[in-house]
Amino acid sequence: FVHQLADPSVQVPELLGSPLLDVRNTSALPLPPALYGGRLNSAGADLTAPAQRAPLQAALESTPVRAVPEATAADVDAAMQRLHAGFTAWNARPVAARAAMLRRAADDLDARLAEFCALLVKEAFKTQADCVAEVREAVDFLRYYADQAEADAQGMQGRGVFVCISPWNFPLAIFAGQVVAALVVGNAVAAKPAEQTPYVALQFVELLHQAGVPADALALLHGPGETVGAGLVAHAHTAGVCFTGSTAVAQIINKALAAKPNSPIPLIAETGGLNAMVVDSTALPEQVIDAVVQSAFRSAGQRCSALRLLCVQSSIADGVIEMLKGALQQLHVGQPANLATDVGPVIDDEAHTGISRHVERLKRDAKLIAEAPVTEPMPRQIRPVAFELPRIADLGEEIFGPVLHVVRFDGSVDDVIQEINALGYGLTLGIQTRIDSRAQRLADAACIGNVYVNRNIIGAVVGVQPFGGEGLSGTGPKAGGPDYLRRFCAEPHIDAPA
Ligand code: NAD
Ligand code: ALA
Repeated sequence: FVHQLADPSVQVPELLGSPLLDVRNTSALPLPPALYGGRLNSAGADLTAPAQRAPLQAALESTPVRAVPEATAADVDAAMQRLHAGFTAWNARPVAARAAMLRRAADDLDARLAEFCALLVKEAFKTQADCVAEVREAVDFLRYYADQAEADAQGMQGRGVFVCISPWNFPLAIFAGQVVAALVVGNAVAAKPAEQTPYVALQFVELLHQAGVPADALALLHGPGETVGAGLVAHAHTAGVCFTGSTAVAQIINKALAAKPNSPIPLIAETGGLNAMVVDSTALPEQVIDAVVQSAFRSAGQRCSALRLLCVQSSIADGVIEMLKGALQQLHVGQPANLATDVGPVIDDEAHTGISRHVERLKRDAKLIAEAPVTEPMPRQIRPVAFELPRIADLGEEIFGPVLHVVRFDGSVDDVIQEINALGYGLTLGIQTRIDSRAQRLADAACIGNVYVNRNIIGAVVGVQPFGGEGLSGTGPKAGGPDYLRRFCAEPHIDAPA
């Protein structure tokens, strides 16, 4: 799935010497005006208007985050028994009735945007711009999956009780996307949010119940993955698992499912990435730096789609690295509630310790390019930082923070893509070039789910840029795309001819 910025009909000689391309409006794919009633709203978050700012600030003051009780093994079993019993009636409802509940919930969530943003700031420490984009993405998932379910000509049937397990880094959008996709086709759902972000999940589940989803079709179970998550996966009534999180945990779940007496049980897994951007000598350095800063450091690098590895053709590497040094000095590293903040803190002490160790190791073993200053000090900050590494293969594992690794290359760009493929992950890839045929060839050669040309590599838009990886990055189908719901369904039952 290739997303381009540059007009493919524009050839290099015409571009040379032309003004800089506008890198702010990055999606060159036309947004279908009819998409969910023309109300697609996840792209962009303009926080500059006072009308936008005031409710966000007010909600920060008035919205509390509360502790939630953890589920016991007995709670898990009771919830699964209740959902198993409730599945048949929920699955028998007309799809239009279930879709109407999703649309009602979408409207409610849209109306409560500022309150949910406040929850995300306080519980996940996301910046305000990220929070607005996330609430809008959740609204888009609700409307998109409602439309998709209704549009399916064959009709959709649930499989039974689907277990949905989600990460903390999109504690609303990914949590909501999984849950409503499973629900709208007729499954009952046991939802297990990340232990770091339980309260925003609780608020969203209450909103779904208020929109009409019954308690015996949807249950929320809080607690550690190793106990509550594993207990749900192991339960005899589990008919499918939708998991988003690390590759290592996906592999644990895969093994646990395979060992069950009633396996095979479907697993949809969306996992980590070692995402690269390849920059050839024809690329526009200003555009490259804008895309790199957005992709590597926004959300404090805590996106599965974030840029980890920048591969720059040697002839322009010095210039690009000089610009990167300057850009790092401009970042506002501060409080997430401050509208000016570009980079907030990381999620918890464990993440802070792990990323800090990696940074300390690279300060000993690699070449430091630059480190951003801290604008407003607060706990668990990691200063956005870039290092130069000798080889692509030196990048071993996903470091889930604002750390960029830069590699220069002299050989062919095609060989670079093969080295990236050899890392085994396949989530996002950026290509920066003004040679259109090259962009297409590299995109075709890459074993990567989402390829972006001459733009940043984060923020896939629901229904426009279906999102999901290959290899170690996930099983597919892509979230927010036309094939997603089918994997949650049983095949239609056919009446055999007499
Ligand atoms: P994680 O794998 O540690 O946890 C994810 C979820 O799994 C949590 O709810 C956790 O409680 C649960 N869990 C942990 N152990 C479990 C077990 N043994 N059995 C069942 N459930 C278990 O991931 P995280 O730290 O929450 O999130 C960050 C990771 O998620 C990164 O690797 C990131 O790349 C990935 N991610 C991927 C996507 C995508 O769409 N591909 C999106 C967001 C995040
Ligand atoms: N869907 C999210 C992104 O594209 C993870 O950044």
